[in-house]
Amino acid sequence: MKNVATHKKSYVSFNGFGIDVAIGRADDLDRMSLVDIDMRDCPRVLDLGCGAGGHSFRMAGRGAVVTAVDRCDFSQEFRQNKESMDALAGFVEFIQGDIAELSKHIKDKSFHLGYMQRTLHYLKYPQAFQLLVYLHEIILDKLFISVTGIESEVGVDYEGRNVAIEDRFFLLHPERAEMFSIHEPVCLFSEREFVELLESAGWRVERCWLSAFGNIKVVCTH
Ligand SMILES: C[S@@+](CC[C@H](N)C(=O)[O-])C[C@H]1O[C@@H](n2cnc3c(N)ncnc32)[C@H](O)[C@@H]1O
Repeated sequence: MKNVATHKKSYVSFNGFGIDVAIGRADDLDRMSLVDIDMRDCPRVLDLGCGAGGHSFRMAGRGAVVTAVDRCDFSQEFRQNKESMDALAGFVEFIQGDIAELSKHIKDKSFHLGYMQRTLHYLKYPQAFQLLVYLHEIILDKLFISVTGIESEVGVDYEGRNVAIEDRFFLLHPERAEMFSIHEPVCLFSEREFVELLESAGWRVERCWLSAFGNIKVVCTH
């Protein structure tokens, strides 16, 4: 299926899965992952919900060997970006697939680092838990991860607000859906719920903070 891109001011969104921020800019969590990559020799990095590959190519530019996964087909964008890659850069491989069935796509390879921004909330809570447990098995060191917070602007009038996290998976209020180009059901988290999920999946939360927008960002380790 061809990707349907929506352009809003300087932002691009693909197929109703929210803004692809990574192709436009690097945020603080992105920069932390790059600092970590700089300290390693050709680390293998898994980028989940990579979108058009903004951060995959940034990481490869610092020497990482990146496996990038997204349910939508970004193979054309990756092909184009690869053509302009520095000869000294690392390597990028794009795999189209559902991260809820990640083991099928990556065949139990292991990675030094994992990276997943603005994506986990598109899974139902039990799927998110299973994925994080699996990531704890295959990622040897750190996971850089963020989700959309329920207290952010995205969560205004969200139907799942008073629903137990295990059953929380709803479309946004139509106005918010339009505003943020999110037209798929989501499980929005509070900071406490997200930390509890990561810890119950085996991760140790090293740092957790809220962005000005209300995204919950975490660096976790073993
Ligand atoms: C908001 S974009 C984030 C892109 C980029 N990581 C960033 O932070 O800007 C969310 C991405 O997650 C992908 N996605 C959502 N659910 C997914 C799933 N179950 N499996 C794989 N990719 C998924 C969407 O296709 C989309 O590219």
